[in-house]
Amino acid sequence: MRFRTTAWIALGAVFLLSASPCRSAEPVSFNRDIRPIMSDVCFHCHGNDAETREAGMRLDVREAALKETENGAVPIVPGDPDASEIIKRMFDDEDPMPPESAHKPLSAAQRELFRRWVAEGAVYEPTGPTRRSLGPPCPALPLARTRSTPSSRPSLPPRA
Ligand code: HEC
Repeated sequence: MRFRTTAWIALGAVFLLSASPCRSAEPVSFNRDIRPIMSDVCFHCHGNDAETREAGMRLDVREAALKETENGAVPIVPGDPDASEIIKRMFDDEDPMPPESAHKPLSAAQRELFRRWVAEGAVYEPTGPTRRSLGPPCPALPLARTRSTPSSRPSLPPRA
């Protein structure tokens, strides 16, 4: 039984590694890899809304995330994941971030992405999609012009 579990884990690891050979070689992208996770999992408590912000720490602005917090911790030290409080807390089993009460645990792969992103310098790309994150442009779709003429739209009831 024990052996089988181990075997499955090993198999899973091999699959994961072989399934994404280029992903691990290219640098982690903030917009593509990190921001979506942060905005889903961290920004509610560490974002731009001062009302819901915890520990006086915001992670949505790089300048703020590099500053010492009110507890004397530095959330992000570019190039040094081990010194970065966000990485310490993500890997902290006793007192993890996000807190268990948020019911949004990070997967091991997600935590590893953050670690790599910080190691690579914690670059915040400007907002908006970049060419790289989008890949090759999609071929233009023919526009169904006739479909969207005003007369074919369902008409709204007259205003009272
Ligand atoms: C539901 C709210 C909530 C969410 C979601 C959340 N945090 Fe927190 N976080 C807190 C609270 C409350 C504290 C202060 C108490 C503590 O340190 O545990 C805190 C503290 C921290 C600290 C320590 C700051 C300091 O100055 O000591 C770090 C680092 C941190 N969070 C990172 C994160 C990261 C990264 C995420 C997303 C992956 C996240 N948190 C998601 C509520 C949240």
